[in-house]
This record gives sequence, C-alpha cells and structure tokens, in this order.
Amino acid sequence: MSEEKIIRMDMGAVESDTHSNRPVLCLGIESSCDETSAAIVDSDRNILAHIIYSQIPEHQKFGGVVPELAARAHILAIEDVVKQTLNNAGKTIDDIDVIAATAGPGLIGGVLVGWMAATGIAQSTKKPLVAVNHLEGHALVPRLCATMADGTNGNVSVEFPYLLMLASGGHCQILLVGGVGQYEMIGQTLDDSAGEAYDKVAKMLGLGYPGGPVVDKRAQSGNPRAFAFPRPLCDKPGCDFSFSGIKTAARTFLSRMDTTLTDEYINDFCASFQSAVVDCIINRLNNAMKDERVRTANPKTLVVAGGVAKNSAIRAAMEKLAQKNKMIFAAPPMNLCTDNGAMIAWAGLENFAIGNVVHKPVAPRPRWPLTEL
Ligand code: KG4
Ligand code: ZN
Repeated sequence: MSEEKIIRMDMGAVESDTHSNRPVLCLGIESSCDETSAAIVDSDRNILAHIIYSQIPEHQKFGGVVPELAARAHILAIEDVVKQTLNNAGKTIDDIDVIAATAGPGLIGGVLVGWMAATGIAQSTKKPLVAVNHLEGHALVPRLCATMADGTNGNVSVEFPYLLMLASGGHCQILLVGGVGQYEMIGQTLDDSAGEAYDKVAKMLGLGYPGGPVVDKRAQSGNPRAFAFPRPLCDKPGCDFSFSGIKTAARTFLSRMDTTLTDEYINDFCASFQSAVVDCIINRLNNAMKDERVRTANPKTLVVAGGVAKNSAIRAAMEKLAQKNKMIFAAPPMNLCTDNGAMIAWAGLENFAIGNVVHKPVAPRPRWPLTEL
C-alpha cells in the first residue's frame, strides 16, 4: 500500500465510537466473484489488515470464471482468509465492532458463502451486521483512499456529491453519487460492460483471462490508429454505452487474418481497441457533465472505480477531462480497484454510521442495482 502513496482523507464521515473515543473497527468480507477477501478497516481510514485470495489461476484454464468452481473455492478459503486477516491485524473477533459482507450483486454461490459466514459471525457474537451492495463498495472506496491518475498522492478528498464512472467486469455505469445509498443513474451500458469487452477481446487474441491487464499493457506498445474500431453511440446524445459493436468489429478484423498473429499485430489491435473504449467513456462523461441533474448537483470531483479503473489510459483521459471541466480527478489505488474486502469494510462503516444495519435475516441478491438502495 505505501508504495502507492495512498492518502488518507480526514473528513470525519464515519464517526468514532463515542463511548471510548476510539475508531470503529469493521471486518469486511467479499466473495461475489473470483476473489475471497477480508479486511479490517477502521473509521479513521486505516486498513489494519487485508487479504485477497485470488482464484484467477483456478479459472484461467477455462478462459473465464466458472461459477460452481468459484463457489467451492470460496467455501474452502473463507475461514482461513477471515482468521488470517484477524491475526494479521493483531485482533480477535471480540475487538471488532461491525461485520460487513457483500450481499449482492454477484455470482450467487459465492455471495452466499461470504454472506452466510458474516451472518454466522454476527449472530454468534451479537455484533451489528451490514449487508453491503458490492457496487456500493466500489463506489465508496475512493472515500477511504484516493490517488491521482498515475497512482500518486494528489491531496484528493472525495466528498459528496461526485460524478462516478463505475466500470467493472459486470457493470458499466455513470452515477451521480449524492451520499451513502444515494445514487442517480446518469447512463449505463445497453449490452456488455467495459470489462467484459476487454475480457472477450483478450480471449479472441488468445491473451488469457482476465483480459484487462494484458490488453492495457499490450496497448502501450501499439498504434491506436492501426484498426478503425467503431465508437458506438458517440454520435448520439445521452450517456449510455454500447460495447457489442466494438466486440463484433474485433471479430471481423480477426476473421480477415489467416496467418499467426504477430506481437506487433496484437499490440496495434489492443491499442486501437483501447482507444475506442477510452473515446466512448470520455464522450459519454462529457455528455454527463452537461446533464441537467449533474449540473444542478454540481459535483466537484470526477471519480473512476471498479476493476477497469486500473486502466492507465482511462485514468489519464479522465484526469484530462476533469481538468478541462475544472473538476478534481480521483481514483482508488490500484489494489482497491478490483474486488477486495477493504472496500466492503469501508462501505460497511459508512452504512453503519447512518444506522443501516440488518435487523432480520436477509437473503443475498444476484441482482441488486444501486438505484434500489
Ligand atoms: O471490479 P472487478 O474486480 O470485478 C467485478 O466486479 O466485475 O473487475 C474485473 C474486471 C475484469 O473484466 C478485468 O478484465 C478488468 O476489471 N480489468 C481491467 C484492468 N484490470 C482489470 N480492464 C482494463 N484495464 C485494466 N488494467
Ligand atoms: Zn467488483
């Protein structure tokens, strides 16, 4: 964490324990996709311990996440991940004030594992439990710590309201974030998410899973003008996305290639694809800034979050757009972009601070839009 020069913002959004005047400690659990993760985060924005057990190697040979394998891997890992997190923080469960876990959306087998573990811990210890929406974890984590586009400390503090580009493997949305649990949908994808497009294009090129990191890296050595990928919807008003046309174009370009792909071809392909994705994101965000709801709320910060927020070109282009519009740009540090327990613990703390705890058993939800919070 320290090498990423993370800043901790002192905004006092999450109150300290008023009786003892010590920070509130939250154990957060994430298990909605292919990471089993737990973290202990306090209300002073310290991450005391954080373990991310990635199942990626188990899914790689199938070219994507296999839900049944993921659920079983979560079952095998969850107990050790939670115990080790407590150990690393030098805490026992008695020291923890709040338990939080992802209760959706996500692959239901995995969500069930983490959510039932958290419910069991909370019931047996009689501690408050927060059902965290995974997307809200991504959305709020820039308030735990934020960096500039290149990952360096820029004295960024993310206060409500902010304009959020939420781009992950499963979602692609522009949201106006008014507060904890307050999300207004400004635009969203009509088909694939940006992460899905990266993963599918990488698969076509034989670059393995997950596709985002390797396409991002290859793109840095390629020519973004080598292939004329379309920019779907960019000639239309509004803030929605469509990535299926870009994916079809990728398939068409590749079908014309009858020899083995060279490194140069792959790099140019990745650079051209990425340039189309970046253009679409910037075009839609530009429109979002002119949206009546956004203008009225007048957010000071433009934020990117979700796994795709790791992308160097997207971060750089969004930072430029923010500067042009006299906004501050903020992104989570790289290790808090993809799925992680710290974002769930932080969202747990923010919800706990407003009394949003579970009072009766709650069923996890495979689908759970942020606008239904
Ligand atoms: O947020 P996340 O960990 O999981 C979901 O909630 O879906 O996002 C995973 C997604 C994958 O599609 C992965 O390819 C993408 O994030 N990703 C990236 C990069 N790193 C991860 N996409 C573009 N550029 C990257 N550097
Ligand atoms: Zn996620």
